[in-house]
Amino acid sequence: MEKKFKRTLITTALPYANGPVHIGHLAGVYVPADIYARYLRMKGEEVLMIGGSDEHGVPITIKARKEGVTPQDIVDRYHKIIKESFEEFGISFDIYSRTSSKIHHQMASDFFRKLYDKGEFIEKVSQQYYDEEAQQFLADRYITGTCPHCHNERAYGDQCEACGTSLNATDLINPKSAISGSQPVLRDTKHWYLPLDKWEPYLREWILEGHKEWRSNVYGQCKSWIDMGLQPRAVSRDLDWGVPVPVEGADGKVLYVWFDAPIGYISNTKELLPDTWERWWKDPETKMIHFIGKDNIVFHCIVFPAMLKAEGSYNLPENVPANEFLNLEGDKISTSRNWAVWLHEYLRDFEGKQDVLRYVLTANAPETKDNDFTWRDFQARNNNELVAILGNFINRSIVLTHKYFDGKVPAAGEFTDYDRETIAEMVNVKSNIEGYLDNYRFRDAQKEAMNLARIGNKYLADTEPWKLAKTDMERVATILNIALQISANLAIAFEPFLPFSSAKLRSLLGMSECRWEELGSTQLLATGTQLSPAELLFEKIEDAAIEAQLQRLEDTKKANMLNEYKANPIRENIEFDDFMKLDIRVGKVLECTKVPKADKLLQFRIDDGLGGRTIVSGIAKHYAPEDLVGKNVCFVANLAPRKLRGIESQGMILSAEDADGRLVVITPADEVRPGSEVK
Ligand code: MF3
Ligand code: ZN
Repeated sequence: MEKKFKRTLITTALPYANGPVHIGHLAGVYVPADIYARYLRMKGEEVLMIGGSDEHGVPITIKARKEGVTPQDIVDRYHKIIKESFEEFGISFDIYSRTSSKIHHQMASDFFRKLYDKGEFIEKVSQQYYDEEAQQFLADRYITGTCPHCHNERAYGDQCEACGTSLNATDLINPKSAISGSQPVLRDTKHWYLPLDKWEPYLREWILEGHKEWRSNVYGQCKSWIDMGLQPRAVSRDLDWGVPVPVEGADGKVLYVWFDAPIGYISNTKELLPDTWERWWKDPETKMIHFIGKDNIVFHCIVFPAMLKAEGSYNLPENVPANEFLNLEGDKISTSRNWAVWLHEYLRDFEGKQDVLRYVLTANAPETKDNDFTWRDFQARNNNELVAILGNFINRSIVLTHKYFDGKVPAAGEFTDYDRETIAEMVNVKSNIEGYLDNYRFRDAQKEAMNLARIGNKYLADTEPWKLAKTDMERVATILNIALQISANLAIAFEPFLPFSSAKLRSLLGMSECRWEELGSTQLLATGTQLSPAELLFEKIEDAAIEAQLQRLEDTKKANMLNEYKANPIRENIEFDDFMKLDIRVGKVLECTKVPKADKLLQFRIDDGLGGRTIVSGIAKHYAPEDLVGKNVCFVANLAPRKLRGIESQGMILSAEDADGRLVVITPADEVRPGSEVK
């Protein structure tokens, strides 16, 4: 049963202020949230859209240390860039604030204190690595060492990427601090934990029974977390950057960034509405929607709701329409590898074309699966859809009106059956868009809006008013009246998606306001209304502009490659005798299966020409088990056997890995008998 709400609170994931924002951010969170907010506002509903920068966490402190500046310097720099990018793209936040603000520190601190006083935390002392040189405790990610399972020397304190095992920093052999390079020592430290297990029955009921309508990716992730069993989560860290833990004897400790950041939604609401903020958070007639990317699901569906429940007086979200990821030209977007389209750079290269990017990102929104942004698709959607369909229709309507009626909206005469059919289709578009937007299906909704432009184009092509101009001006007047009414409808239908173009269109048509309920009306423009001179809403994007972008990405690839070689240079020469010690053979894969509970490991049965052997290899991210069965591979045959996840691995399968982490298994160029030696 649909619940009735009075108002909607839209939150958007707070981006980390340690870099600018790129198309992935825009596509995954801010454009869909903005479409939704604009739509509700046009319907006259009470809405609030909250944003802000996430300014705490270890990576910001590391970046500051590297640059020799303070963390505050870092977040000041990026908060400004991010905020400006959002403004330029028309993301219509009611407030965009930041978590280093005083009001947020107070709010987060009070929130923690309330849970503390209610006895909602568990206190636990554990041993953690401490860097004596840098004088700080080390987050797991900032410790490297040798993996106890596969002896990879570049394992991280939370995971070994070679064998896929998740680790505790204390498991590492020869641990090293990534900050100072020194050997860290273990020290006792006390932290506060939120017992998620306590909230498990509640969360199970609330999500798995109560919110079956959530997107399947979101629902599925929640279910798998809950089914695995929830554990207490530490909500404090040993760090000097963040919100201090407001408890006696907690010097040098701050709230974990994932504890304070979502409270930022609350602080920012309070900053905007000091007197009425509680209505937006505590009145059960307020509907809260979290817009996030898929990496944030557990925090918004499990951890934050548990915090809010523990506090006791807050609403929980009604929906969390999380998106999957957007890739760029087939590769994962990466800040560190500069594989991204940065918003501030886009605007430099495509001045005034905010709506084009908004359009393309919505058309390709990663709503149900990861999607790819390509510059060719960007160009095609601009040229073939925005220019050829939407822009063309509007331009023709306005130009013809200037030609035959001095630019004044002509009076409509009697409608033909075809006119009525066209108008009925237009009315349909309204309910279709609503159906999609109400269910957070933004790409389908935008497609429907574009359909209206298609309807308009078809109408002009079918009625051919330019041919009637000599014989039947009354009919021409009716046709152009309808075409202009459709244009005015397009201004309404596209306002949530393309706000800049919609505003321009309204000004061309002399329309002042733009209310959603008027969508479908044939009375939007009064007879006699003076139109402005025709002006193109969109312009063709030429090949050269696209090629320049592709070239830039090529250059980035090359630079990354070079860096990779620098970071991973050819190793020292070895003697021929050392080489001869290595025994590499060809084997045929007989069987291949996944190793349970190790998401990177595959177990192989290999025909080695000598009766067969078992090899475990960390390549499950790159191959499905069935991909390699029947293939010949090369393997190190005399590597001392070692146990991985309890399975004895007798050798190592050889593969090649490129700078982007893509991995392919080495196979002989021709069929050759298993057991053959590789020399
Ligand atoms: N900064 C986080 C990220 O970029 C998102 C924080 S969302 C909030 O992944 F809920 F914590 F605010
Ligand atoms: Zn390992």
